[in-house]
Amino acid sequence: MIAPAQSLPTGRRHLIGIAGLSPQDITELLDLAEAEVAVSRQVEKKKSVLKGRTQINLFFEASTRTQASFELAGKRLGADVMNMSVASSSVKKGETLIDTAMTLNAMRPDLLVVRHHSAGAVALLAQKVACSVVNAGDGAHEHPTQALLDALTIRRHKGRIARLVVAICGDVLHSRVARSNILLLNALGAEVRVVAPSTLLPSGIDQMGVRVFRRMDEGLKGADVVMMLRLQRERMEGAFVPSVREYFRYFGLDAAKLAHAKPDALVMHPGPMNRGVEIASEIADGPASVIEEQVEMGVAVRMAVIEHLIGLSAEGNT
Ligand code: NCD
Repeated sequence: MIAPAQSLPTGRRHLIGIAGLSPQDITELLDLAEAEVAVSRQVEKKKSVLKGRTQINLFFEASTRTQASFELAGKRLGADVMNMSVASSSVKKGETLIDTAMTLNAMRPDLLVVRHHSAGAVALLAQKVACSVVNAGDGAHEHPTQALLDALTIRRHKGRIARLVVAICGDVLHSRVARSNILLLNALGAEVRVVAPSTLLPSGIDQMGVRVFRRMDEGLKGADVVMMLRLQRERMEGAFVPSVREYFRYFGLDAAKLAHAKPDALVMHPGPMNRGVEIASEIADGPASVIEEQVEMGVAVRMAVIEHLIGLSAEGNT
C-alpha cells in the first residue's frame, strides 16, 4: 500500500512525496521496479496491465527527461498517454491551476502526472480531481520518483541502502531532488550528508537528519555515493554564488575531489547537467558515473509507481 497519508477516503491513491511512505512501501516499489527493468530490456516492451486507461502528463514547467520517462512508462504499461505542457495551454491565457485541472478531470483520466513550479501545487490539485495524481516535481518541495530511481540505481550497484554514506552536493536550497532523497535515504537507513556553501543550504537543514559539510574534501571523505545537484540558476534571485568558475573550483566534482570518496564510489546526477559548473565532463562520462543508468531506472520506477497506483484493479491482466 503506497501513500497512506496521501490517499483520499474514496480510495484514490496518489504519490505526492516520499514523506508519508514507509520503508516497506519504498522497498515494495523498488522491488516492483526491478521487474519493470526486465520488461524494458525485452525486445517486446509492452504490458497490457493499463490497457484502456488514460494518463495525462500535465507539465507547468519545462521538462525533457521526466516527461519522456513518464510517457514511456505509461505506454509500456499499455495506457493511452497524453502530454500537455504549459506553453500550449490556456494557463498562458490566465486560467488557474485548478481550472486547468478541472477541465482535464472532466475528460475522465485515470492518472494525472503533474509538474508545477510551486511547492504544494500538486497536493492541492490532487484534492480536486477524481483520479490518481503523481507528483513529477513541485517547486523546491518534492520529486518522489527521482528519489526512487536514485535508490534503485544505488541498490542495484551496492546491494542495499542501509549504512551507505551518501553525499548530496551543491544547490540543496532549491532542490526538490535533494529533499526527496534525504527523506528516502534516511527512511532506508543510509548516512546522509549534504555538502554546499552556506548560501545554498536551506534553514533547518540540520533538522532533516543529515550531516552538513561546507567543504567537498570533508563531505566526500569515505562516501559510497556522490550525488551532484544542478545549480538551479532559474530559481535564484540575486547572487547565491560569486561566479560559476568560482563555484566549480570549490564545489564542482572533479577527479581531485572525487578521490576523497571510496574508490568504488558511484557518481550520480539527476540531469540536466551543467558540465563544468557542478561536474567535470571527465567525471560525468567516467567509470564511476551511473548517470545514464539513472535515466534507464527512471522509466522502470515510473512504471512501478503507475502500476501500483492504478493498475492493481487490473491485476492478472498482463
Ligand atoms: C530535476 C528536477 O527537475 O527537479 N531534473 C529532472 O527531474 N530531470 C533536477 C534539476 O532540474 O536540476
